[in-house]
Amino acid sequence: MASYDVIVIGSGPGGYVAAIRCAQLGLKTACVEGRETLGGTCLNVGCIPSKALLHASHQLHEAEHNFAKMGLKGKSPSVDWKQMLAYKDDVIGQNTKGIEFLFKKNKIDWLKGWGAIPEAGKVKVGDEVHEAKSIIVATGSEASSLPGIEVDEKIVVTSTGALELPKIPKKMVVIGAGVIGLELGSVYARLGTEVTVVEYLDAITPGMDGEVQKTFKRLLEKQGLSFVMGAAVQSVETMKTKAKVHYKLRKDDSDATLDADVVLVATGRRPYTDGLGLDALGVEMTERGQIKTDAQWRTNVPGIYAIGDAIAGPMLAHKAEDEGMAAAEVIAGKHGHVNYGVIPGVIYTHPEVANVGHTEEELKEAGRAYKAGKFSFMGNGRAKANFAADGFVKILADKETDRILGAHIIGPMAGDLIHEICVAMEFGASAEDVALTCHAHPTYSEAVREAALACGDGAIHS
Ligand code: NAI
Repeated sequence: MASYDVIVIGSGPGGYVAAIRCAQLGLKTACVEGRETLGGTCLNVGCIPSKALLHASHQLHEAEHNFAKMGLKGKSPSVDWKQMLAYKDDVIGQNTKGIEFLFKKNKIDWLKGWGAIPEAGKVKVGDEVHEAKSIIVATGSEASSLPGIEVDEKIVVTSTGALELPKIPKKMVVIGAGVIGLELGSVYARLGTEVTVVEYLDAITPGMDGEVQKTFKRLLEKQGLSFVMGAAVQSVETMKTKAKVHYKLRKDDSDATLDADVVLVATGRRPYTDGLGLDALGVEMTERGQIKTDAQWRTNVPGIYAIGDAIAGPMLAHKAEDEGMAAAEVIAGKHGHVNYGVIPGVIYTHPEVANVGHTEEELKEAGRAYKAGKFSFMGNGRAKANFAADGFVKILADKETDRILGAHIIGPMAGDLIHEICVAMEFGASAEDVALTCHAHPTYSEAVREAALACGDGAIHS
């Protein structure tokens, strides 16, 4: 038995970041992880591997569609799926080993196994019980399927199975047009799979700016993805190597089916808190199964904190990281803070989609007077040169004060460009502040400045 200031349960982006910050702040820290490698869902079966496949499949798309236009002639590359998966696994390995290195560097003990909390102040891992003045629960989330659908990770898969299919399927049905469905659906569409996305609502990516939703869907359709909208999936029937997806169209209650070699279930995730013993401890939960915390990530049980996907808020790695750092600071007696109004969201398709702050729909509903400055990448020289002129930047600012309220980008490097607006919002900047900032030419960032200019006297290149 060992004694620690802090034991973090879970080594995903929330947990490992919390552990590192605790150690940096002088706290004796351990982190419990039952997987064979550190990094949680994000590094092992989520963000990182999916980005590797998105990158590889995008390169193929470039070779097939744009190389010849630039005078790069020759046979298009063919896909060696085994090698592509090996590349993805190598990327995972480099990242998970990186966390192991950081743990050693910061003298954090990795307690290998699945953790439980038998009582406040104690963490059980295997047969050993360790003491901890503070415990941070950072156990993340798991895919939530639908009733009538049995996931076997072979024919009916979650994102985990979709990252290691034995071969590229001919036909794939994706259930849910959210982030996971569209990122992985577009990977397989680019690799030649016939992809059909079945979505319950009438728009893709729920909660996103309406104009972005429409443009995004149009661009994905151009890339070959098909959509069945307003369709509630009822069940999935599996045969030996095939599946049949049964759905009901909401507009007329009619039934229909789709055949597939692989069905990807991407209908959301739910907090993963199994086996921790939170019930017995009396830790309060929300009706959605999230751990209830106060504004400083404390649960109702003294000494137990919770962060990331296991608590309320968007299920995003970077939100978990920020909470991890802040919770560590609170435990160390400092002032931990997360600005939930400025958390970017990114979809790593091509083009990328990124947003921060309010959507137009939210501002209208709140009756808030705002102005929208929009700029198309068609007017951006760099985007044109790089075959990346699809999409736009939209900045929303308060009508009176010009303070930036939100931004929505669909286009090249949107996931990087959005941070200019995040920083501006953190500083309470106006659209004019961004517009008056000199932006290097020729860069994609100029489109952000042009959108800011469009909030005032007008963009130059539109
Ligand atoms: P999601 O919540 O983003 O989307 C699920 C979609 O499934 C919704 O559009 C919903 O209307 C639809 N749906 C639900 N039941 C259905 C039914 N019976 N028939 C048809 N459609 C149905 O969930 P997703 O994509 O699984 O992602 C889970 C979480 O992981 C999200 O919170 C997401 O933010 C996070 N994530 C974030 C990434 C990123 O930031 N790039 C990447 C991957 C995941």
